[in-house]
Amino acid sequence: MTKKPVTTADLRKQKQEGQPIAMITAYDYPSAKLADEAGVDVILVGDSLGMVVLGYESTIPVTMEDMLHHTKAVTRAAKHALVVADLPFLSYHGSVEEGVKNAGRLLQEGLAKAVKMEGGAEITPVVKRCVQAGIPVMGHIGLTPQSVYQLGGYKVQGKDVEAAGRLLRDAQELEEAGAFALVLECVPTEVAAKIRESVAIPVIGIGAGAGCDGQVLVFHDILSYASQIKPKFVKRYADVGSQIQEAVSTYVYEVKTGQFPSDEHGFTASEETVSYLYGKGVTS
Ligand code: KIV
Repeated sequence: MTKKPVTTADLRKQKQEGQPIAMITAYDYPSAKLADEAGVDVILVGDSLGMVVLGYESTIPVTMEDMLHHTKAVTRAAKHALVVADLPFLSYHGSVEEGVKNAGRLLQEGLAKAVKMEGGAEITPVVKRCVQAGIPVMGHIGLTPQSVYQLGGYKVQGKDVEAAGRLLRDAQELEEAGAFALVLECVPTEVAAKIRESVAIPVIGIGAGAGCDGQVLVFHDILSYASQIKPKFVKRYADVGSQIQEAVSTYVYEVKTGQFPSDEHGFTASEETVSYLYGKGVTS
């Protein structure tokens, strides 16, 4: 039985009722289908796809066209989970109009149900306008990978009093601007828990401890599926990468040694065709 599609209102209710929200990234049809069938509440088409499936060193090179391509595949698969798509680097900074237009494309062409943007108080004008236009927005504060060069690396954020206070204000301003939820990345557990209790919208953590309203991790990271980074906050639930490598090595070996294909993997012609080809001296 297909469960009914998750809405932003459902996520708010989950927070109110203390039911944790499970969110995971997916970048293509099969991963989204498996995640959806496993019962996740939210699928994020994260711009982490730039690093995870496109092989870039950061999320900076990811374009709107990349995001649309992957979002379309994910939304074809997701029947239950709310699909949120990331706005990539610089797609919402040039002007509010450009940000709304790009956010709209992720819904209209990609068929996502919401968008995610990185940043705090400084992005509230574009958040407000998107929300006014009917585009649900998820915020993303803490470690914001699109600012990796400004942050000086992938580091824990909000450790001192000033930085923690700024994060708290950013969360409140994003809520005021109309964001329906927030991702809080790489923030000390105590800071995250305080932010969570200070806003009515769900706070979904990644490397932000157990005091959040939900958790998000990258699909390939929890499966050890050729994921290159190994952050402390990731828990591995399977070692799919080793299984794939072993299976493909065995395939290569069997092809090269003539063990594959065997008769069971082939098709048989009719007796008449066999006799025509082999019995009556058809020359090759
Ligand atoms: O792009 C992404 O995958 C993300 C998550 C890590 C939250 O933003």
